[in-house]
Amino acid sequence: MLKSTSLYQEQFRFITKIAESAWSFLSDLKDAKIWDDTNYLKDCFSQNTCPEIDYERYAMPFAYTYFLENFLKAASVFLRECPPRAKCIIDAGCGSGAGMLAYLAVLDQSLPDINWQIDVVLIDRSEAQLTIAKNILQLVKPQFQHLDIVPHYLDPMNLLNWEPQANSADCILFEHVLTENPFDVGSLLGKAFLALTGGGKIYIIERRREKEPIWNIIDQIVSELAIPASYGSGKIEPDDIAFGEP
Ligand SMILES: C[S@@+](CC[C@H](N)C(=O)[O-])C[C@H]1O[C@@H](n2cnc3c(N)ncnc32)[C@H](O)[C@@H]1O
Repeated sequence: MLKSTSLYQEQFRFITKIAESAWSFLSDLKDAKIWDDTNYLKDCFSQNTCPEIDYERYAMPFAYTYFLENFLKAASVFLRECPPRAKCIIDAGCGSGAGMLAYLAVLDQSLPDINWQIDVVLIDRSEAQLTIAKNILQLVKPQFQHLDIVPHYLDPMNLLNWEPQANSADCILFEHVLTENPFDVGSLLGKAFLALTGGGKIYIIERRREKEPIWNIIDQIVSELAIPASYGSGKIEPDDIAFGEP
């Protein structure tokens, strides 16, 4: 559906405002080791199979270097179509929370003059990542105009041990997390489909690169489980997206 220019402008303005607030927090995370740490992370992410990263050690440099990039990538996804008006969203492998925050920012500005309560469930196995996500969400939460955000901060948890309640969420995000679990894509998406309510949506945001093995696996599994849709890269070249409706 075509959106009016003024709606886009309002959404862009709000996305920028949230990004600026997040950056006011993130810019303090920089320390003397930041460039070495960033280079290490870049090296990990450039490999075809990402090695396991110790996010307890690298949560701060990850947030400093990648939060804004991942936030804007996810925002560009949700700007392409109105995000589903979820009652409960799960950010699986949330890291510093870039994906869920982008979703919330776009949704907030696409709602008419109503208040909408939304449960936000953050799952990650790294306590340090969860702490940063919590801090950023608490900082920006008062700025939302239509959303009454109810955060659920779970204890650190490996998604492989996640036992989701059936039909409990209507939007589930996997942003740059399946690529770190290439051998468990089927099991993780299976859990997500169990958790998803009818008509809900799962968003997968990963790099679309030559030789990226993860997409073959995702394509195969998603087409068995759901109706997939994917968006190719446009001018701004966001990561490609697959999302499925059960
Ligand atoms: C590259 S970061 C992406 C973070 C965030 N989704 C984003 O796009 O900015 C991957 C995150 O997924 C988490 N993660 C990876 N595998 C996981 C697993 N099996 N269970 C729980 N968390 C996991 C890591 O701890 C890390 O915080």
